[in-house]
Amino acid sequence: MLVNNAGTVVDRLAADTTAVEMRHTFEVNVFGVVTVIHAMLPLLRASLAPRIVNVSSTTASLGLTSGGADFGGDAERRIAYSSSKTALNMLTVQYAHAFAKDPGLSHIKINSATPGYTATDLTGHRGTRTVEEGARVIVDLATLDSAGPTGGFFNDQGRVPW
Ligand SMILES: NC(=O)c1ccc[n+]([C@@H]2O[C@H](COP(=O)([O-])OP(=O)(O)OC[C@H]3O[C@@H](n4cnc5c(N)ncnc54)[C@H](OP(=O)(O)O)[C@@H]3O)[C@@H](O)[C@H]2O)c1
Repeated sequence: MLVNNAGTVVDRLAADTTAVEMRHTFEVNVFGVVTVIHAMLPLLRASLAPRIVNVSSTTASLGLTSGGADFGGDAERRIAYSSSKTALNMLTVQYAHAFAKDPGLSHIKINSATPGYTATDLTGHRGTRTVEEGARVIVDLATLDSAGPTGGFFNDQGRVPW
């Protein structure tokens, strides 16, 4: 199993955010994931039950964000972070489709998971969920059986709208 958990955030108003800051965020949250998946594909290909979990964010949801959902934290300061996680979600869908078409990779399940607003360094420990609560959906998706879904976006309550 491969859990792409590493992530970074720039805490900045949209009008103050530069392309340089955006690029650093995408470097870690998007290109970092492509780098690791590409490097791990030989091992995943050889695995009997390979699982990839991309740790995304509820704030990546275009549907929830455009609908004005309150995710906790400061909605006005997450332009780089949320857009990078939306791109990450598209990676999940694109890889799922590509794997399904390749007989050597079609046994890989890849999903996006969101832990919710969790008390970690990333949130300055202001998150309202514990690490154990946040980790649950990630562990569930990393240990899916062969009937489990692929190419989806989940929290511990079920599917999250794209
Ligand atoms: N906390 C939340 O509310 C929340 C909500 C939704 C999604 N998430 C996601 O959950 C994941 C874990 O975050 P967290 O909340 O546990 O935050 P965290 O405590 O800040 O952990 C982030 C981790 O990413 C690693 N990392 C950052 N940049 C890296 C790089 N360039 N190369 C390698 N490792 C790097 C950090 O390593 P070092 O410690 O060595 O720097 C750290 O272990 C992230 O993808 C985050 O976006 C968190």
